Amino acid sequence: MLLKDKSFINGLWVNAFSSDRFDIVNPANQLVIGSVPDMKTTETKDAIEAAHCAFKKWKNYSATERASYLKKWHQLILDNIEDLAKILTIEQGKPLAEAKGEILYGASFIEWFAEEARRVYGDVIPGHTRDSRIIVLKQPIGVVGAITPWNFPNAMITRKVAPALAAGCTVVIKPSELTPFSALALAQLAEEAGFPKGVINIVTSKSPISVGSELTTNPLVKKISFTGSTRVGKLLMQQCAASVKKVSMELGGNAPFIVFNDADIDKAVVGAIASKYRNAGQTCVCTNRIFVQSKVANEFIEKYTKAVKKLKVADGLDSECTIGPLINKEAVTKVEKLVDSAINEGASLVIGGKKNELGDLFYEPTILTNVTTSMEIANAEIFGPISTLFQFETEQEVIQMANDTPYGLASYFYGNNMSQIWRVAEALEYGMVGVNTGSISTTVAPFGGIKESGIGREGSKYGIDEYVVTKYINFSI
Ligand code: SIN
Repeated sequence: MLLKDKSFINGLWVNAFSSDRFDIVNPANQLVIGSVPDMKTTETKDAIEAAHCAFKKWKNYSATERASYLKKWHQLILDNIEDLAKILTIEQGKPLAEAKGEILYGASFIEWFAEEARRVYGDVIPGHTRDSRIIVLKQPIGVVGAITPWNFPNAMITRKVAPALAAGCTVVIKPSELTPFSALALAQLAEEAGFPKGVINIVTSKSPISVGSELTTNPLVKKISFTGSTRVGKLLMQQCAASVKKVSMELGGNAPFIVFNDADIDKAVVGAIASKYRNAGQTCVCTNRIFVQSKVANEFIEKYTKAVKKLKVADGLDSECTIGPLINKEAVTKVEKLVDSAINEGASLVIGGKKNELGDLFYEPTILTNVTTSMEIANAEIFGPISTLFQFETEQEVIQMANDTPYGLASYFYGNNMSQIWRVAEALEYGMVGVNTGSISTTVAPFGGIKESGIGREGSKYGIDEYVVTKYINFSI
């Protein structure tokens, strides 16, 4: 029932006007799971108009009413976690346990924003003259275009859609062309939760450019929320400029993971494994560069290598799997090129460095040491199971190296000196800093980056601000 093969527009399950479809492939075995409609500009316009029409009513629902739909949706997702996780693993590749984790993570945004719906508070400001009274209102911005990635096909939708709906906006979602089934399954459950028609719309398409262009240029869309690469984010921002749309951009990263001499090395190893190898290294917040202070370098490398050797590469449905396949051939080719060029430039291969015998999309967990900041791999977002290790001597040196990137999403460090912890946390030019932890993603904290990693925050009490406009009313009495 949850494996839907049509798009969802204005409360109806629909095909493309052309009847064109495209196949979705399981990265673990490269077999076709099914197909979905290949929609283009016309269907996207229809979805936007449906969302615009629905907005006129949905914005007037009380916060409690909107929250009650969100709560029903949340519960239905929890009731269907097993099936949702299976769909996610089959189309995306991540281990089933991680897929379940993602479903829970995704659902938590719906629960959180159901609660936040009631707290979209305004202000009363003392008037600037004797007879003026000023109040500030927060109002829903309007139709939201949500363009979501393949690496978290469930949670990146709910992290955008839940605050949008809670605020009183309606949405048109363009899921990744690689993983639309998780999005459609969410729409099926939203339909069961009884959301009015047009409040949630999903346009599937294998041509992100035509759908993206319509979403970013159609004047009825007031806000674009995008998670994906910095390159595409910049393009979407340019397109949004013509109609001055509000944007949230959650873009690429190049996360440093720093281990100081006084760190608890065993804990640092656990943190590095969690932040590097989650989703086979395919998250924006994955550790991309590991900097180890020279006195503990040998100990860290030895323990880290031992831990990486325990990772199990397998089909995500295999209960022992901890590393699934990469998403597609392009992803594998990119990783292969980065590893090969690092080795040619002088890096040393500790383990891995090649495809796994399971198939073309499986790449072995890899460790490279003696990596330097001038190598291509130090400056690229790897998006694969590759650890690159650098050595450093001083705090000042590592801060300089860690910040020497246009990205500013996640960063991590391990140490025990309280003064140093404060200094380093403040000096790292990143939107998120994990201190003695490799896991920073949570519903209750503001997720997002600075520099070329993005604009805006998702989750937490700040997440709903992205979907409202501030209006003040000046009364003369
Ligand atoms: C992402 O990779 O875009 C999101 C990861 C997360 O929420 O932890």
